[in-house]
Amino acid sequence: MQHLINSQLICADYHKDYPMIERGKGIYLYDKAGNEYIDACGCTAAVTHLGHGLDCISEALYEQSKKLAVHPTHLFYNEALEKYLASICAFAPEGFNHAWTISGGTEAVENAIKLAFQYQKVKGYKRHKVLARWGSYHGNSITVLDVGGLKARRDYYTDLMVDHLHVSPCYTYRNAEGMSEEAYEDMLIQELENTLAAHPEIFCFLAEPIVGAALGAATPTPNYFKRIKAICDAHDILLIADEVMTGFGRTGTNFGINLYGDYADILCCAKGISSGYFPLGAIIVHDRVYDAIRASGQPFYSGQTYACIPLAAAVGQANLDYIQQHNLVDNAREVGGYLKSKLEGLKALSCVGDVRGEGLFLGIEFVQNQATKAIFDPNVFFSKKVEAQAFKEGLVSYACRGTVEYSKGDHMLFAPPITLSHEEADLIVDKLQTAIKKVYSKLQ
Ligand SMILES: Cc1ncc(COP(=O)(O)O)c(C=O)c1O
Repeated sequence: MQHLINSQLICADYHKDYPMIERGKGIYLYDKAGNEYIDACGCTAAVTHLGHGLDCISEALYEQSKKLAVHPTHLFYNEALEKYLASICAFAPEGFNHAWTISGGTEAVENAIKLAFQYQKVKGYKRHKVLARWGSYHGNSITVLDVGGLKARRDYYTDLMVDHLHVSPCYTYRNAEGMSEEAYEDMLIQELENTLAAHPEIFCFLAEPIVGAALGAATPTPNYFKRIKAICDAHDILLIADEVMTGFGRTGTNFGINLYGDYADILCCAKGISSGYFPLGAIIVHDRVYDAIRASGQPFYSGQTYACIPLAAAVGQANLDYIQQHNLVDNAREVGGYLKSKLEGLKALSCVGDVRGEGLFLGIEFVQNQATKAIFDPNVFFSKKVEAQAFKEGLVSYACRGTVEYSKGDHMLFAPPITLSHEEADLIVDKLQTAIKKVYSKLQ
């Protein structure tokens, strides 16, 4: 155990003991003392699609680094990159034929916003605001915290923000209470129409297909994205899908938007795009966006040292090849359905209010009372306690809050490697059930 009070690390919690983690294999993590943990959140969170310690990915990294890690992008092009961009465009829905890589999710979202801003400029508009949703997390730069709607993470920095705009998320468990699904969807669509009418300065709409950390795998109503896209199109506003967590097979489809009709103009990707073996993110862009910018003759006004480097492309390629060769998208759907049904069984415990999500992207929301959906006192830190107890049982999980007033309410997100087997799913549920029971019984 390491207490970080005297460490040189700038750290989140100086007063906690951290085991020294040493290695990982498959869905398992091992600390220096030899303890074994199941990684049920995919390393904070939804990162390790393939699991840990895969030789073929390390070898791809090694082989490319021996050849060429980075190249002078102002003078050369590179085959590893060219091949990789073709692969991810082929994996994306029809019409998404151009892509650009970067180091992670925050940068992917930031660059998608830049590209959308450039699109509206070449179309002759003078717009300057992003519309996104409360109860969403899109990354940690100031701009992306600003467009994000997770108060727990953004509020400290509000003085540095330019106040991008937000509408309500599509979150049926609490917000559609007493309404039909259709009436709830109508209400959200009306809110969007009103916001766009009041703010002609909006140039893009940003949303996660399934909300990850902020709302615990909250899925939209079936026609939500279709209707959102129709309105965006009517205003010539681009719809950016933040697929940082939901992309590359996590939801049992190639991308989260595949579940709802492929409605988007730009996809932001990271995490499972490389399973954490190398820092990688990407934007994948629909022809309608690319063609407009290209017709203007302008380059994409962006660029960073680690944009479009061969080393990242080689790892991304090996990662995608593995996903496809091992049918991991199908596995996420199949085993995800199984895991979800087992998690549904936990509703027998009266503190489990909701189980939701798609594929291996699942969430549990805790409540004090299943009928009223009353939350636990935030000072109880219920989901944090479950996370800590699960850790003692050898399960790495991810506790979050934010389903009520975007800052309160307890939930957990589950995103284990998409290689998961049925037996491993059983182990996760057994350990989780033990942890929840132990925490809950102490509160009774
Ligand atoms: C939906 C979503 N978008 C963007 C990000 C930011 O990605 P990164 O942490 O790689 O910058 C995250 C990170 O958790 C995320 O969940």
